[in-house]
Amino acid sequence: MKRVDDFRLRLGGKEYVPIMIGGMGVDISTSELALEAARLGGIGHISDAMVPDVSDRKFDTSFVKEKTKLYKFNINNMDKSAVKFDLDRLAEATRLHVGATMQAKKGDGLIFVNCMEKLTMNAPKETLRTRLSAALDAGIDGITMSAGLHLGSFELIKDHPRFHEAKLGIIVSSVRALQLFLRKVSRLNRNPDYIIVEGPLAGGHLGFGIDDWQQYDLHTIMDEIHAYMKAENLDIPLIAAGGIFTGSDAVGFLEKGAGGVQVATRFTVTRECGLPDDVKQEYYRASEEDIIVNGVSPTGYPMRMLKQTPAIGSGIRPGCESYGYLLDATGNCAYINSYNREVQANPGSKDIKVFDKTCLCTHMRNFNCWTCGSTTWRLKDTTHKLADGSYQVLSAEHVFKDYQFSVDNQLALPPAADAAA
Ligand SMILES: Cc1cc2nc3c(=O)[nH]c(=O)nc-3n(C[C@H](O)[C@H](O)[C@H](O)COP(=O)(O)O)c2cc1C
Repeated sequence: MKRVDDFRLRLGGKEYVPIMIGGMGVDISTSELALEAARLGGIGHISDAMVPDVSDRKFDTSFVKEKTKLYKFNINNMDKSAVKFDLDRLAEATRLHVGATMQAKKGDGLIFVNCMEKLTMNAPKETLRTRLSAALDAGIDGITMSAGLHLGSFELIKDHPRFHEAKLGIIVSSVRALQLFLRKVSRLNRNPDYIIVEGPLAGGHLGFGIDDWQQYDLHTIMDEIHAYMKAENLDIPLIAAGGIFTGSDAVGFLEKGAGGVQVATRFTVTRECGLPDDVKQEYYRASEEDIIVNGVSPTGYPMRMLKQTPAIGSGIRPGCESYGYLLDATGNCAYINSYNREVQANPGSKDIKVFDKTCLCTHMRNFNCWTCGSTTWRLKDTTHKLADGSYQVLSAEHVFKDYQFSVDNQLALPPAADAAA
C-alpha cells in the first residue's frame, strides 16, 4: 500500500514532498505555516491578500492608517472611485512580507505566494503588476495565480528578470479555463511550471457556479485535464486540490499521475495557522450541516463558509478608505450597492443588516468570515477533546507528516502530551 512519501513532485529539476499547503488569505496561511511546509520538504504558501494590513500587524508599519487618513474625506461618500492604492506603498508592503518570509526559510522545500486576481483594488492591472513584481523582487520561490482566469497576468511580469526563473503556477477548475490560459501564455513562450486543479470541495472561493458546483468532482476534472495534457504533449505537473483529507485521498490522485496535492483545511486548526484560537475551535466544532456555499462574496464567486460566520448579515459601513481590495476597475464593489439599498430602505436605522453580500475586506481582516473546506466537520476526528470541552490544537508538522506517511485512510492523533503544552 502506497503512501504520499513514495511519490515526489518534480519542479525545475528538483524533487519535493508532493504536499502543498494552499494559500489562505488574509494571513490565515501565515509565514510560520508556509515555513513549516518548506522545512519539511514540501511547498507552503503565504498570501498577498491585504498585504499592507498584514505588514502593519507584523512589522509595525502604518500603511492602512496612512491610507485611511488620506481618504478620510470620502468615508461618508458611497462613491469610492477616488480611493486608490499608492503603488509604491503596495510594493513596499509586499516586499516586507515576502522578504521576511524568505529570509526565515530553512529546509529543502519552497515558499510560494498566492495572488488572487479578484483583488482588483480599483486599478486591476497596475496593482496586480505591482504585487507580482514586488513578490519576485523579494525573492519568492514561486507565485500561484488564483481567483480569476489570469489571462493577462504573465504579460504583466514578462520583463521581470526572474520571469523565467521563479516558479509560476495557476489554479483552474476546468479544462476550459486551462485551455484559455495556455493559449494566452503560449505567445510569451512561458508555460506555467505547475497547474493546481481545484475541485468543488475546497475552501475559499470556488471556480464553479453557485447552483451547479455539486455536479462536479475533482477526480473527473483531473482525468479530463490529464487527457488534454497528454493530447497536447504537455508535461506540467498537475496538483489536485479540494477535499483531500487523508494521505490515502492524496495517494488516490498521485497514483493516477498527479504531481502533488494542495491541502488547506486540515491546517486551519494548527498552531501556525493565523486564525484566532476561538475561531479554530469553531472549525473543530462544526457539523456537516454548518458548512454552506453562498453568494455573499462581492467577487461574484461562490464561497464556502460556516453558516454561523459573523460576516453573514452584518451591515457594517463599507471599509474602502482603509481597505478597498475588491473595488473593481470603476471603483465599485457589490457590497456597496447592497449596503446602500438597505440604508435607503431603513432610513435612520442604526442596525443595518445586509444578507446578500458582505464587506469581505473588513470581515476577512478581522477573521469574521469563516471560510472553510467541505471537510471541516471532520477536523474533530484529527485530535483529542480536552477536559474543558475544547479541542487540542495541532502542530503543522504533525498534520504534514500525517498526510505524508499515513496509509489506509488513517488519521494520526497528536501525542496527548501536546494537550498540556
Ligand atoms: C480558510 C481558507 C482560506 C482560503 N483562502 C484562499 C485564498 O485566499 N486564495 C486561494 O486561492 N485559495 C484559498 N483557499 C483554498 C485553498 O488554498 C486550497 O486550495 C483548498 O482549500 C484545498 O482544499 P481543502 O481545504 O479541502 O484541503 C482557502 C481555503 C481555506 C480553507
